[in-house]
Amino acid sequence: MEKLIKARTDKRMTDEEITAFIEEQVALLREKMSGSKVLCALSGGVDSAVTAALIHKAVPENLICVFIDHGLMRLRESEKIMRVYRDEQGLNLVRVDASKRFMAALRHVSEPERKRKIIGEEFIRVLEDEGRKLGKIDYLAQGTIYADLLESGAVDGKHVKTHHNVAIPPNIEFKEIIEPLRMLYKDEVRRVGVALGLPNKMVYRQPFPGPGLGVRTLGEITQKKLEIVRAADNIFRDEIVAAGLDQKIWQYFAILTEARSTGVRNGERVYGYTVALRAVNSIDAVTAEFADIPYEVLQKSSRRIVTEVPEVHRVVYDITSKPPSTIEWE
Ligand code: XMP
Repeated sequence: MEKLIKARTDKRMTDEEITAFIEEQVALLREKMSGSKVLCALSGGVDSAVTAALIHKAVPENLICVFIDHGLMRLRESEKIMRVYRDEQGLNLVRVDASKRFMAALRHVSEPERKRKIIGEEFIRVLEDEGRKLGKIDYLAQGTIYADLLESGAVDGKHVKTHHNVAIPPNIEFKEIIEPLRMLYKDEVRRVGVALGLPNKMVYRQPFPGPGLGVRTLGEITQKKLEIVRAADNIFRDEIVAAGLDQKIWQYFAILTEARSTGVRNGERVYGYTVALRAVNSIDAVTAEFADIPYEVLQKSSRRIVTEVPEVHRVVYDITSKPPSTIEWE
């Protein structure tokens, strides 16, 4: 990390400061970008959606949004993103299916930080390719927030994990990377989203990391492992929604661990995967507590996962808080 940015305090912005922040950013963006095109990478998450909304408010006709499908999305998520952002919100959004390219770059890679760096680098390269196809594009906008910078060591030099949007390769083709939310905490980003008039389903969506299921499929990523984690994750999310807990828990998901274990099916020994379920509550993702989920929800999720995903014979619930653990497993 070459240069550290100035740290901010934990004190949150007031509503007036949120309004002033929007006005100031819109003015700055307008001044900087009038006459230039800007490419905004949309991931489907809150941070990039709010970034796009800010730029849209400033220079709507200059904004081109790109959703890079890296093949590490949850079940049916890519289709949902296109429906919400392009069809409902009317953004100028292009989908790029780059899954083959990501899978090739990640082949035989199992070290977590290397996986993150490869995904980050591949993101930028795909964006550059898209930028080139669209003509000259000066700016790339990203939804980087303060916690990403903090965890990547950009604030105090203490590195926890490399957030993919912070690991920008040195030789990028864009003139400048624009990160209007880089000094905001997640809760402030949501307040900016509400103030900009984004619908609740976008603003209060649970966070999903840029590297997607890549950091929830431990070890080497394969199509088969992705299918397994996708199916298990979908069941767990279903059960959380069915129990009416989806708006009460900050983040909940499944992880495909590298632990294999012995099980028994139809009276015979089997040896297969262990899925971990993770649900946490947090305010800003910098610290988090594991969520106190009713046993029946865990029980039903577990029973369904081992029945509907035959490769999985064991399900565990992660009961660690952050720190010392992190929310994601890699
Ligand atoms: P950790 O695992 O560091 O995660 O406790 C904190 C929050 O950030 C999300 N996360 C990421 N988001 N790019 C992102 O956009 C990333 O590389 C990334 N890594 C983690 C994570 O889901 C949690 O909400």
